[in-house]
Amino acid sequence: MLLEAKKLNTFYGNLHAIWDIDIEVYEKEIVALIGSNGAGKSTLLKTIAGSIPMSSGEVIYKGLHITAEKRHKANVMVKNGITLCPEGRHVFPRLTVHDNLKMGGYIRQKHELEAGYQRVYDLFPRLKERYSQMAGTLSGGEQQMLAIGRALMSSPKLLMLDEPSLGLSPLLTEKMFELIQEIRSQGTTILLVEQNAVSALSIANRGYVLKVGHITRTGTGKELLESQDILSSYLGV
Ligand SMILES: Nc1ncnc2c1ncn2[C@@H]1O[C@H](COP(=O)(O)OP(=O)(O)OP(=O)(O)O)[C@@H](O)[C@H]1O
Ligand SMILES: [Mg+2]
Repeated sequence: MLLEAKKLNTFYGNLHAIWDIDIEVYEKEIVALIGSNGAGKSTLLKTIAGSIPMSSGEVIYKGLHITAEKRHKANVMVKNGITLCPEGRHVFPRLTVHDNLKMGGYIRQKHELEAGYQRVYDLFPRLKERYSQMAGTLSGGEQQMLAIGRALMSSPKLLMLDEPSLGLSPLLTEKMFELIQEIRSQGTTILLVEQNAVSALSIANRGYVLKVGHITRTGTGKELLESQDILSSYLGV
């Protein structure tokens, strides 16, 4: 197992955002996390990434035990191979495409960066064409590609993607799901949060359904896709 979260709880002040969450991620899997707005999906990813503190529970990753008492900050998690590409397109608008990628590779040695650029530019040729363009002037879809490319520059073992298809056209959304599979086939494990539940479950080995901070269902992507209550509760069909 690559990552295990056990009985994770996270609060924002008095708001108990996620409750006793247990999840498992195996190497080379795509694991989808679905649920409606405010369910706690982003909170769970941020807790695992160390960008917000857990109040209790444990994250076990490659033999590292991370708890509320022995917390690791986000930069430590990145060094250990867990990178979160957060919701929204947080690129550095006044840096070029290439310099944004360089920032993503800050933990890498100089000689390793070249392979990182190559990988990102092969996955996203559009970024290669625009390598000297200011990131703030890219289209929304291009900024999303850049945000993912930047996360890949740290060469993560576990890449957590928070709503990668948000705001993309149907065509680009389809392309994004193809790229996510391509990234996994290169050996990167993926924990994927998506509103687009049908597409996410279609490419996922397994999935979890989160409802107001609780995991209410888990199963293979196929099982969840076939489950009528999921279809009606979360997908509105
Ligand atoms: N920084 C914060 N301070 C206080 N409450 C927060 C904060 N961030 C999130 N919350 C609350 O925690 C709950 C879970 O939010 P979260 O962003 O994890 O949901 P989500 O499943 O990612 O939703 P969405 O699909 O809309 O992105 C929500 O009720 C939200 O209002
Ligand atoms: Mg969210």
